[in-house]
Amino acid sequence: MRLHVVSFGCQMSVADGGEMAAPLLARGFRAVAGPEDADAIVLNTCTVRQHAEDKALSMIGRLREWKEASPDRVLIVAGCAAERLGGWIRTRFPHVDLVVGAKSIEDYPAIVSQALAAKFDALRETREAFASVSPGAAPPEAPVGWTSAVVAPVTIMRGCNYSCSYCIVPAVRGRESYRPYETVLAEIRAKAALGAREILLLGQTVNSWRARGADGRERRFADLLGAAASVDGVARVRFESPHPRYLDDAFAAAFAALPQAGEHIHMPVQSGSDRVLALMRRNYTAASFLEKIARLRAAVPAIEVSTDIIVGFPSETDADFERTLELVGSLRPASAYTFKYSPREGTESAGMPDDVPEAVKEERLARLNALCDGLAESALKSRIGRTVEVLDENGGYGRTRDGFRVKWGSPAEPGRLLRVRVTGTMKRTLLGEIDEQR
Ligand code: 5AD
Ligand code: SF4
Repeated sequence: MRLHVVSFGCQMSVADGGEMAAPLLARGFRAVAGPEDADAIVLNTCTVRQHAEDKALSMIGRLREWKEASPDRVLIVAGCAAERLGGWIRTRFPHVDLVVGAKSIEDYPAIVSQALAAKFDALRETREAFASVSPGAAPPEAPVGWTSAVVAPVTIMRGCNYSCSYCIVPAVRGRESYRPYETVLAEIRAKAALGAREILLLGQTVNSWRARGADGRERRFADLLGAAASVDGVARVRFESPHPRYLDDAFAAAFAALPQAGEHIHMPVQSGSDRVLALMRRNYTAASFLEKIARLRAAVPAIEVSTDIIVGFPSETDADFERTLELVGSLRPASAYTFKYSPREGTESAGMPDDVPEAVKEERLARLNALCDGLAESALKSRIGRTVEVLDENGGYGRTRDGFRVKWGSPAEPGRLLRVRVTGTMKRTLLGEIDEQR
């Protein structure tokens, strides 16, 4: 039996896809790369912007033929859009077997087993999915939900307690819940034993994580980062996405003292206009955001920052947009994910007039992208001639400590930290040659 998992959306969604695959893999399914010869498909959806939801819905529509070709095939629709749209999905697309919303992810294995018992009873439970791999040796294929065969996501918290006015996430993922310290560490150890060399800690506001350990002692996010870094086999730890509120001097000091944390942070800023930030209910100003970053840069001078920005929020004027360009000029992000505002039903801002014309949103997005592309290019070009540490993720492809993509020729050694001398750039990627190995 073959399983195909498709995930739209953020890294948490991709990681959830991996968790959803687990109960099926444990029943003897084998993961395959495409839908054509799959017996079951898990389609993990996103709803953060209308465009993301539309993509998922159109894929569900296209899978009707796949499903009708063999009635034994199983189509499971899961994730954030499934949470938002619920039962409507099966009414609109009767070929869907099961809809599981993002809030139910913890109960997913039980839901799948119950709902599909008749189909699955014949299947044998196997331990194949957890077959051991010798430590340090990278398996040839990435397990479902992993970024690569050596980069593993670990979800440490779910949900969000903020109420940013444009954001649907609190509605579809619920309030924050933190996974226990020991559970997280056990998962990191298990993934390291399967070949993970880099651990990506995930959560909607990942650094708000805190939990009391089994010993009764409270652990904060910085403690977890340190504990993750000291797991055998783990060479790097990253995290996404932090919220500026928890980025204090104590965290900056802990980050600086942890070589495995590298020199990169992704922190969404969304806008550079204080008026728009207030309407977005972001709880910071452009100046206070930059101040947090300045403190982090003081502790970790080589740190590179990437961010998310929305243009065309309700009532955003040219002057507001200029403030965003100014902020980008001061922040100098190494890369930025930029979006046109998309009203989401049920959010606070959906009640505000979506009054920035589409053409203006387009034009602002193009100007912002041009600025961000220029900054990214100068950051990339400034690396030429330097020797950088790269984790080989995929045999000749990897990332630097500060988050840049790198490609080189041979030798390729997935799972190894290599020294690569940068010789050029191609689009958003550094090109290089191996310098020396360790
Ligand atoms: N419209 C446009 N972009 C959005 N984002 C979240 N909600 C919306 C929306 N309604 C963007 C934010 C966030 C990223 C994941 O998606 O920039 O950081
Ligand atoms: Fe999309 Fe947000 Fe859900 Fe991630 S958490 S899949 S970005 S709606």
